[in-house]
Amino acid sequence: RWSRKIFSGIQPTGSLHLGNYLGAVRKWTHLQKARENVTLCIVDMHSITMPHNPPMLRENIFMMAATLLACGVDPAQSTLFVQSGVMEHAELNWILSSLTTMPRLAQLPQFKEKSRRVKDVPLGLYVYPVLQAADIMLYKATHVPVGADQLQHIQLAQHLIRAFNTRYGEMFPECSPMIEENDASRVLSLREPSKKMSKSDQDPRGTINLSDSPELIREKIKKAVTDFTSDITYSPSMRPGVSNLVNIHSHVTDESIATVVEEAKLLDTAKYKERVADAVIEHLRPIREKINMHLANERELCYVLEMGAEKARKVAQHTMSEVKQRLGL
Ligand code: ADP
Ligand code: NA
Repeated sequence: RWSRKIFSGIQPTGSLHLGNYLGAVRKWTHLQKARENVTLCIVDMHSITMPHNPPMLRENIFMMAATLLACGVDPAQSTLFVQSGVMEHAELNWILSSLTTMPRLAQLPQFKEKSRRVKDVPLGLYVYPVLQAADIMLYKATHVPVGADQLQHIQLAQHLIRAFNTRYGEMFPECSPMIEENDASRVLSLREPSKKMSKSDQDPRGTINLSDSPELIREKIKKAVTDFTSDITYSPSMRPGVSNLVNIHSHVTDESIATVVEEAKLLDTAKYKERVADAVIEHLRPIREKINMHLANERELCYVLEMGAEKARKVAQHTMSEVKQRLGL
């Protein structure tokens, strides 16, 4: 009854790292190529729930937009826009806030974790997952690509959808999470290969950012933690460091793990790192160039985002008028 619609929200955190790219953004572009209906929202209103720096947020929004376009998001096929430009997100958030309870929000693990870090907990931080549900519901999304840490938030969205449909009559499709990280797509920290690559990694050398220069990428890969065996094998549990490099190498060259390992059989780890660095640099070079090109052309970038917001608004306004009618507003 419902057509497949994919919605993904991404926080404007500045640069993306290789994990975000291989684990998430690149998959969205594959969905787009497969002619799926994809809506991508830069969720700036989620970014103000913790103390933030306004000029930096503005810069990060542009950086994220430029990065997504550079990674292959096509605004003609997908809908790419900034959340605060479509006011229906805040409007539906308010309506949904009466469909859930305070204890349910208080028990969500992300809220517990983040609220521990601030003395006075902002209401916005608390309501954050309700806004996330509004994001999804406005576009009647059926599938939501998320990291594993977002699963509880999708469950809250499912709860709100059921609550709305029960109280006001069937209007929203069930939404299912599409978990993006699996063993094959999880990129590990170069410094601590027991952990995933993350922007919150304490050691910046563990993370390759899409905006890193070729020299910096090479340096980080050279210093990647491996082990005392010098040949190249793939065994994520026994040799996580080397296997992570093989995995990254396989992703950026579009070759199978077996092929990559076979081709590295005469190399030691030091030589292999050079080869991986070459491959990563080659893969990221056009992306980095496009990021810079988009950033240098801010008017064009604004125009693309405004066109995206216009497309999104049409859908969101349609949903909101239906919602208001159901509620007697
Ligand atoms: P971070 O962990 O750096 O804070 P986010 O939590 O913002 O990244 O994740 C954004 C998206 O990128 C999610 O879909 C998540 O699954 C994906 N992602 C993040 N880190 C990795 C990683 N190391 N490997 C694969 N995918 C990742
Ligand atoms: Na995270």
